[in-house]
Amino acid sequence: MVDQPDIAERRWAYVVAGVVFFVFAVIVYNGVHWAAQPPSNVETIDAGRLHLAGEFVETNLGTEVVPDGSVVVRVIAEQYAFVPACIVVPAETKVVFRVTSPDVVHGFLISGTNVNSMVVPGFIAEVRTRFDRPGDHLMPCQEYCSVGHQGMWARVKVLDPVEFARSYSGQQRASCAG
Ligand code: CUA
Repeated sequence: MVDQPDIAERRWAYVVAGVVFFVFAVIVYNGVHWAAQPPSNVETIDAGRLHLAGEFVETNLGTEVVPDGSVVVRVIAEQYAFVPACIVVPAETKVVFRVTSPDVVHGFLISGTNVNSMVVPGFIAEVRTRFDRPGDHLMPCQEYCSVGHQGMWARVKVLDPVEFARSYSGQQRASCAG
């Protein structure tokens, strides 16, 4: 009888120690995992030279129709805008978004779809998707990026493939901005 409370206490001590150990293990696992594999595509780029040379120079931004008929959309997310601010893509077509940032962490998500990625400076976020039907979507920044965050968003215009081809064929890069 004298031992009962002591045993109960010891059991609870094991339970608490177990919980503390579990939480600690989760923290360590997440820390190592995120450091090894940031929450975006692990493809690096020099964030300080985006506008000078390479894939993300201004003339290369927007929608490009690649030889296999799919499209690649290159976007810069910067404080506090997406460039281009209006993205045009064809429906029923494979779309690859490639997004990067010259300054801080941003996020992009396309309303009404499952497209959602962080945009980390120094890395290229790549998301593959396909829009089933024409329509307009909003693309807000979904990661707090300082004072202008709430005003940072773009539009995504999904056009019928025939209309897209009619309006934008012959252009190197398409966008509906401007
Ligand atoms: Cu960019 Cu929030």
